[in-house]
Amino acid sequence: MRIGFLGTGNVASQLALGLSKAGHGVKFGSRNPNEARERIVKLGIGSVGSHSEASEFGEIMILAIPYSAVSESISAAWKLDGKIIIDVTNPLTPSFDWAIGFTTSGAEEIAKLLPEAQIVKAFNHVFAENMATGRLGQVALMALVAGDNAGAKQVVMSLARDIGFDAVDAGPLKSARYMEALGMQLIALGYDQKMGTGIGFSFARK
Ligand SMILES: NC(=O)c1ccc[n+]([C@@H]2O[C@H](COP(=O)([O-])OP(=O)(O)OC[C@H]3O[C@@H](n4cnc5c(N)ncnc54)[C@H](OP(=O)(O)O)[C@@H]3O)[C@@H](O)[C@H]2O)c1
Repeated sequence: MRIGFLGTGNVASQLALGLSKAGHGVKFGSRNPNEARERIVKLGIGSVGSHSEASEFGEIMILAIPYSAVSESISAAWKLDGKIIIDVTNPLTPSFDWAIGFTTSGAEEIAKLLPEAQIVKAFNHVFAENMATGRLGQVALMALVAGDNAGAKQVVMSLARDIGFDAVDAGPLKSARYMEALGMQLIALGYDQKMGTGIGFSFARK
């Protein structure tokens, strides 16, 4: 599939590496494509353009910018209507506190901003450095996937498996409330508990 990224940072780069290795096409959308191109070219995959150009390319879009910048950034020119949007954001304030609690989620708020798109929450509870393989050693990391459109969710679960993740259907988009809390827990383990970013969650089944 053709995957467009909104953002050119750690998450976009690492997910793009994993998806590209699995045979998918990738294009990055940036506020400043010339500056971003200098960084992205080192990955050896994909191309860089404006957000609009990335969204013209992408059959599926991955929203990988700071949550605090989403509402002011989303533009009609991004052509997101009817598309699956994978929301990887964690709703942090600029000072890295949790911005939203259990009565809503970043994903549900983004769905209100993009009512014609199919928002699917995924990958927010994985550190970027583990996103290119979906694995830590031999262990496949859990990729919870939440969304209200069953077809869109299946597409995203399939992309997660293509990378190497153990995809788990987490239910409706409302489950993003718990996934975003899990993302915060991961950040707390990595940074507050000083475990670093070489950690992740796996899922056991009987
Ligand atoms: N890092 C992780 O381990 C991790 C894990 C899970 C989820 N997340 C979430 O994934 C998202 C991206 O994280 P990241 O680590 O990739 O961040 P990052 O490395 O800082 O990259 C974010 C990208 O977003 C764009 N951006 C930055 N500020 C912006 C603004 N004010 N308006 C519009 N675009 C802006 C920039 O691209 P351009 O300058 O090219 O426009 C930048 O490269 C965040 O919401 C984060 O919470 C991160």
